Amino acid sequence: QNNAPVTFTDPQTGIIFNSWGIPADSPQTQGGFTFGMALPSNALSTDATEFIGYLQCAAGSAGWCGVSLGGPMTNSLLITAWPNKDTVYTSLRYATGYSMPDLYTGDAKITQVRSNINATHFTLIFRCTNCLRWNQGGQEGGASTTGGALVLGWVQALPSPGNPTCPDQITLEQHNNGMGIWGAVLDSNAANPSYTAWAAQATKTVT
Ligand code: HEM
Repeated sequence: QNNAPVTFTDPQTGIIFNSWGIPADSPQTQGGFTFGMALPSNALSTDATEFIGYLQCAAGSAGWCGVSLGGPMTNSLLITAWPNKDTVYTSLRYATGYSMPDLYTGDAKITQVRSNINATHFTLIFRCTNCLRWNQGGQEGGASTTGGALVLGWVQALPSPGNPTCPDQITLEQHNNGMGIWGAVLDSNAANPSYTAWAAQATKTVT
């Protein structure tokens, strides 16, 4: 996994991301994995509380993937995403141990900009508000955007969640298609004056 970011522009929305990925032919995960982040214009000097995320996961029309916004699985805000028919669903979770994560009870929220599902991958561009500071029943944490890098975690799994159309009630098996923690270095392309306009494109709520 690269630490230095790869900057790319999503052709459909014009959103510019810093991204970090694992190639499709990597032994670390079948099919590859990419996560990207776009941040508010002042995020490199003032800690941001939200971001626009890009997820490209290897499942195709099955499986699930996840990102830990703190690095480890435990005591971090977890984003879980999976495809079902023509929809990509998400669930914000929090784990205190290495077992099925609980529902996150803080005020973070995901709204979608666009998604795509094909035979080999699913892609989701989403706004995650109140996601970079978390509080699960008084247990607080966060990811700072002013330190030059974030510590993030990734996982992928091949079987689909149970209850896939009901994000609050999904059931998961332990991930079986790779996992890791990486240092996601941010460069000046991560924060952009167009952030507010891009965030306004996140109009779709999938529950
Ligand atoms: C690591 C179990 C769901 C993110 C681990 C490990 C276990 C585990 C046992 C450590 C494995 C090792 O070190 O060899 C489970 C179980 C789950 C689950 C039983 C559900 C039933 C999730 C979800 C996410 C996640 C939903 C994120 C969205 C991670 C990450 C790691 C990890 C990033 C690697 C970093 C670390 O070791 O803390 N998981 N997990 N897990 N898990 Fe999970």
